[in-house]
Amino acid sequence: MKIAIIGGAGSVGAPTAFYLAAQKLADEILMIGGKQQNVLKQHAMDLSTAMSAKNIIIRAGDYQDLEGTDIVINAAGIAQGLITDRMEMLPKNIVLIKAIAAHIKRQCPDAFVITATNPVDPLNYATYLAGGFDRKKLIGYSLNDSFRFREMIAKGYNMKVSRVGGIVIGEHGTAQVPLFSTVRIDGKIVNVAEDIKRSVFQTIPTILRDYEGLRAGRTAGWTCAIGLELIVRAVVENSGIVLPCSVVLEGEYGLKGLSISVPVALGRTGVQQIVEYNLEKDEQERFEIASGLLFDAVKKVESYL
Ligand code: 2OP
Repeated sequence: MKIAIIGGAGSVGAPTAFYLAAQKLADEILMIGGKQQNVLKQHAMDLSTAMSAKNIIIRAGDYQDLEGTDIVINAAGIAQGLITDRMEMLPKNIVLIKAIAAHIKRQCPDAFVITATNPVDPLNYATYLAGGFDRKKLIGYSLNDSFRFREMIAKGYNMKVSRVGGIVIGEHGTAQVPLFSTVRIDGKIVNVAEDIKRSVFQTIPTILRDYEGLRAGRTAGWTCAIGLELIVRAVVENSGIVLPCSVVLEGEYGLKGLSISVPVALGRTGVQQIVEYNLEKDEQERFEIASGLLFDAVKKVESYL
């Protein structure tokens, strides 16, 4: 299994390389970077030594080395700076994403590609359009929203997060759709209390601001590493596990011509199935707001490509 991480020197790429190697999910990890070639090479050297007992090749390389890659994690992006909405990054990152899609198409057209650059949904769709990929081999990464949702529910009930399940779909942004109908505690579906629901909705718009406001020059890389490992593991182990991911829809959920997060079963062939949940009325309304916003973004994507 050869995994390429584009943006390998970044705050998402480097922790992801570390965690995938530590979990021994690859035989080879290729790290590709942009301007910070010195940082990229240093990470690759350090990781190669750190993981030397695991018999994994970890190396820095370039796009021509993508040949033979099974999974591409694209976390390349322009430095995020102080943004209040991930959508602000669309004009900045789309040129890069278009160029990367062409490299993937040329070197490893059958790879499973994960877009982990913001704004995830429009950029996953841009990759689809620019590369002409099979939509079942292309997902956008949005799992951090579900991790944070579980944290918020656990905080509301003053319990350990490990007891809580539940997922978020929709836009990977402020129009995300927390599915309270999927919340489980100790494996059992619960009716989430109204005050906890209110608190979740109040917290969602503050998450990015709290991260960016610290001006740390990095993003939620450790969280991404954990979520990306779950996705890569599902593909490597052909498990069929269902996770919310941004995928190009062609009629599922009544939508067509955009990428948006919905539950998908993942396996060796990529997206094995798009799972259609019965959404509650208010969840459906929020999902429609998210899709409306992402359809607007698709128009921008088409004008930039
Ligand atoms: C996240 O939600 C910043 O989009 C990134 O962790």
